[in-house]
Amino acid sequence: MHYASARPLAMTLPGVNEKGGKQVMNGTPHIVIADDQEAVREICTSIATALGYRATGVVSAREAIRVWEQDPPDVLVSDVSLPDMTGLELLKRLKLVMPAVPVLLTTSYGTVGMAVEAMKQGAADYLTKPFELEEMRLLLQACVRQTQQAREGRGLRLEARGPYAAGNLIGVSPAMQRVFRLIGKVAQSRYSVLVLGESGTGKEVVARALHYTGPERDRPFLPVDCGALVPSLMESELFGYAKGAFTGAHHNHEGLLEVAQGGTVFLDEIGELPLDLQVKLLRAIQEKEVRPVGSTRRIKIDVRIIAATNRDLQAAVAEGSFRKDLFFRLNVVSIKLPPLRERVQDIPMLVEHFLDRFTPPGAAPRSFSDEAMARMICYDWPGNIRELENCVERTVALAAGPRLEVADLPTTLLHLRQPPPVAAGEDCGIRSIAAIERDAILGALNQVKGDKLLAAKLLGIGKTTLYRKLKEYTFSAQAGGLNS
Ligand SMILES: Nc1ncnc2c1ncn2[C@@H]1O[C@H](COP(=O)(O)OP(=O)(O)OP(=O)(O)O)[C@@H](O)[C@H]1O
Ligand SMILES: [Mg+2]
Repeated sequence: MHYASARPLAMTLPGVNEKGGKQVMNGTPHIVIADDQEAVREICTSIATALGYRATGVVSAREAIRVWEQDPPDVLVSDVSLPDMTGLELLKRLKLVMPAVPVLLTTSYGTVGMAVEAMKQGAADYLTKPFELEEMRLLLQACVRQTQQAREGRGLRLEARGPYAAGNLIGVSPAMQRVFRLIGKVAQSRYSVLVLGESGTGKEVVARALHYTGPERDRPFLPVDCGALVPSLMESELFGYAKGAFTGAHHNHEGLLEVAQGGTVFLDEIGELPLDLQVKLLRAIQEKEVRPVGSTRRIKIDVRIIAATNRDLQAAVAEGSFRKDLFFRLNVVSIKLPPLRERVQDIPMLVEHFLDRFTPPGAAPRSFSDEAMARMICYDWPGNIRELENCVERTVALAAGPRLEVADLPTTLLHLRQPPPVAAGEDCGIRSIAAIERDAILGALNQVKGDKLLAAKLLGIGKTTLYRKLKEYTFSAQAGGLNS
């Protein structure tokens, strides 16, 4: 039977106990169904509840993510094309935080190619719409069994509960997709990882993602800022100290490398670590043991090291302020986070994400005007995602209406607040070619969510022309050179 011919939803499937109901039971398998077609959501819900599972239907990827952060699913059923994201993208996002949760994709005619791609990316299976109810039922059962088996071996539900949760890491740009793939691969190992990137690009979130999606996620994740402490304190912090090692050392004190046993130590701003501590750290990593300050005791350690810096470590090595041997030790795998201005495709989704986060529960939803969004896409964000986050937070806090306009953007983005260039003829309702061109470019960029390549294609101009124009707009705006 196809769902299309089976609209009566309260059906009982052959051989299935009708438990259903709204009651939420602990341990009851939870199915999240993401589909913008109501009929599909309803039919999948009825199949799931008939099997005794809980089901949550959502219409968009964003909603799906919100649901799984609160209530991790046992299975995700998703259409391959959701209004705000492809099913493939949603699959990748889920795999990043809950790699063991099976994903069933449903496709319509014409999107099967994407489903095949999804299978390659780890989807459990896919069904072509209209699908057989019995087929969906069997697949759901098989997937739930798979999750339960996985969970018996490992605390799956913990995954979304750590400080790293799905919604924390966003990126649709090819550059971020590569980063996500790399995280997925490297998280399963215990190699040292060096995370590089300008300030505010997300180095710490990536470090957390590596830890909380890896096999040791229930062990400690301990961050330490290598630039924040004076060297002697830093040494005690990392390696610990023995009672009596210095004035005030009344007890033995475990260092972070020891406390993190089995887990991860995140050495933030590693470029700031003084040379003598670099030597000690290298020895600790190589020998897998530490010697606390003032002690002769050696303590075995088993930690994963993730280090991060916004400095050019290779240059530091060349000039002698960072040890080459430690650099090689830490740099077994490196993850480079591109600055936000090089992945503008991510801006609209990040803006939405922060808008969501900073909108108080129960408050009416708000949105940025097209023009405000276009301005944010064009800005070069020297403070990267952190600056964008602050910008959205401030705008949400200070603006009054439901629509957030260019004028509501913070003054730090003042140069974005210049209106488009218009020639003197504007007064009589005639717009300059430059103004029309600029509107077309910004409008197109906004419509395709910042994808410059696609925008250039749709506008029928070369990619370099588009980049040049954008540079001109930003530059003339910064210089206050727009006369209108
Ligand atoms: N891909 C992302 N998706 C959503 N939020 C992100 C992403 N990357 C970073 N953020 C947010 O941006 C802010 C800055 O991230 P983070 O602290 O990891 O940056 P950083 O590279 O460590 O910066 P710094 O060098 O200044 O320490 C955080 O609030 C983080 O949650
Ligand atoms: Mg940081």
